[in-house]
Amino acid sequence: MERDDLAIDGLLRELARAPGGDDHAFVARVLARTQHPAPWKPAAFAAAILVAMGMVYAMAPEAPTGRIDFAHQSCLLPDAVRMRVLAKEAASERLYLLGEVAMDAVPRVPASTPLLFQAVGRDGLAIWTAPSFVKVRPTPSTPGLMLDRKSARRVDFARDVKPILDLHCSGCHAEAELVREGVTPFEARRSRLVTQTHAPISSDDRRQLALWVDLGACVRP
Ligand code: HEC
Repeated sequence: MERDDLAIDGLLRELARAPGGDDHAFVARVLARTQHPAPWKPAAFAAAILVAMGMVYAMAPEAPTGRIDFAHQSCLLPDAVRMRVLAKEAASERLYLLGEVAMDAVPRVPASTPLLFQAVGRDGLAIWTAPSFVKVRPTPSTPGLMLDRKSARRVDFARDVKPILDLHCSGCHAEAELVREGVTPFEARRSRLVTQTHAPISSDDRRQLALWVDLGACVRP
């Protein structure tokens, strides 16, 4: 037998061993036929594997999600234009941005996972951070905006913040001191690292510094 035929043979033998009603008989019939090598082609083999993988993927249980509605928050936070959902990194407990949405959005988020909400003003800086984490109850799946891996954003000091300071600030300042004295965690708008004006930096860079501070300014020099 060719290598592909051997592989198919092995696969089918495995399938035949697995318990299962009609499929079992079907596989046994197919298996009987492969004793006289059938003209399987590599392409057909690959297609069969892809179909099998698709079935496994479709059957994989989805992580439960729940909805959050920020509508009632907009009364309490009239200056808020967007809401952030922050989540904890599993290994390090560091916070990352799971997603940021308009106040009237009703996004779906991972259920039973500690989340921290943060309101953002027109200037893109946090104006309020919830005092504690909440867990959202799982609710039946309905289509809609999902905050998950795809919308997530991480800000890492070494990768995203230090290069900005190296380029624009370190010529005149000791970086550790600048960060120690110029940062109030979760409050970029009160952090001179972000609000200073004597060293002009691009608005993208300023947003990056601000997001790092608003996410708690973890891992500092
Ligand atoms: C050309 C030199 C120079 C550069 C570049 C520079 N600074 Fe400064 N910075 C100064 C001086 C001088 C002071 C005043 C020192 C003092 O009062 O102790 C200062 C003060 C500060 C202060 C405290 C007072 C304030 O303005 O709030 C902060 C915070 C600060 N700088 C942040 C930064 C940041 C962030 C950068 C980079 C984006 C930067 N600086 C780049 C020279 C510089």
